[in-house]
Amino acid sequence: MVLSKRLYIKTYGCQMNVYDSEKMEALLKPLGYAVTDAPESADMVILNTCHIREKATEKAYSDMGRMRELKNERQALGKDMIIAVAGCTAQAEGEQILNRAPYVDMVFGPQSYHLLPEMLAKATRSVEKGKGPGCGVLEVDFPEVPKFDFLPEPTEISGPSTFLAIQEGCDKFCHFCCVPYTRGAEYSRPVQDIFKEAKALVVKGAREITLLGQNVNAYHGEAPSNKGEWGLGELSRYLAEIEGLERIRYMTSHPRDVDEALIQAHRDVPQLMPFLHLPVQSGSDVILKAMNRRHTSQFYLDIIAKFRSVRPDIAFSSDFIVGYPGETDQDFEATLDLVRQVNFAQAYSFKYSPRPGTPAAALENQIDEKLKSERLQILQDLLREQQAHFNRNMIGKKLAILLEKVGRHQGQLIGRSPFLQSVHIKAPAQLLGEIVEVEITSGETNSLAAKLIAT
Ligand code: 5AD
Ligand code: SF4
Repeated sequence: MVLSKRLYIKTYGCQMNVYDSEKMEALLKPLGYAVTDAPESADMVILNTCHIREKATEKAYSDMGRMRELKNERQALGKDMIIAVAGCTAQAEGEQILNRAPYVDMVFGPQSYHLLPEMLAKATRSVEKGKGPGCGVLEVDFPEVPKFDFLPEPTEISGPSTFLAIQEGCDKFCHFCCVPYTRGAEYSRPVQDIFKEAKALVVKGAREITLLGQNVNAYHGEAPSNKGEWGLGELSRYLAEIEGLERIRYMTSHPRDVDEALIQAHRDVPQLMPFLHLPVQSGSDVILKAMNRRHTSQFYLDIIAKFRSVRPDIAFSSDFIVGYPGETDQDFEATLDLVRQVNFAQAYSFKYSPRPGTPAAALENQIDEKLKSERLQILQDLLREQQAHFNRNMIGKKLAILLEKVGRHQGQLIGRSPFLQSVHIKAPAQLLGEIVEVEITSGETNSLAAKLIAT
């Protein structure tokens, strides 16, 4: 097949968007589109947007403006460019995008990706008919039939570590979060579909699969041979049977949805990596309640203890929000306290950003930006210190590293430890995609260095 058209995709935000972008790429390939990283040469541009915080949304709007300039330049040369806005901002703002950026040709949400060829044909017809600005194709419904059945199987993978969406959407409705509105109600794919896709990824060379979902451990998919439903623990055990699949990870989890089966799986399944991203958001019970998180700080600490009792070396990561409406100094202190008790290997922390339509955005007791910044700084200093300590502790240890990509320096490869640390190693390029034994020689805040152990 001649791939005569150029497609530029820019992906914002989370891993689910990265996964979706790859699916869109695969859907457009049969229509003759090959991916380019030069937007000025693209016949079609997709901005796969993120809506989680205001900054992400504004970035997408500013990039739309940049694409408009490129489109104008191409039109001056007698060519054209279809501009598509996908992802969570597209879902949340829909028509507003066509009003604010009328040169956009297509706006569609994450539930409509399987309709991409159809939508593109419609948009192309509109362009050919010379339809005016603001007439772009809009698709932001939540269809009855889940899209997964219509998405193509993986044709290629970008490296030995890859993603697989097993669940989408969220029914938790934390009061700060737009995800339940942008990704819709929780849906779990049947076990056999996931198994088939995982096998296909392994055949393509995947050694590690990260199971994705907005609320991944709420997974409750149809089990094989009508055996009811399985949770993430059972699913992980089953996937671990795939020969050649060496590592399994999953994200993002909710504390409330951790069950015994998942904890036991961490004890029994060696392929399940000893690393867990488990967002807590705050250490204050008052704020957790206001956030509608449905758990207390003690509940979170108890879960951490349970995982540690079955897998003593397990490392934790988390998400935090500072400056949630009404957060007092005391509440913030409780967050620092929780961080000190858990001792995180890494974590993400954010200033609260009001999202239109979410309950917290309407609250009156919003926190001053300056205070948010001060708290963020204090929290990040503490988290960085813990991360540096965790990494320094690895010096002298022997670890198995999956070599994922070529490093910036000659003869250097970059891989990941079981604890998701980035590790730089001097190693021959033929080892890419292999899991090698190394000895850690140094540990900085963001990465480790190691030397190969001769085997
Ligand atoms: N403001 C700041 N951070 C947010 N997150 C979600 N919504 C908001 C918001 N309105 C953070 C949470 C979540 C992560 C993906 O993004 O910490 O776990
Ligand atoms: Fe958002 Fe996660 Fe809460 Fe769902 S569980 S509403 S995705 S923060």
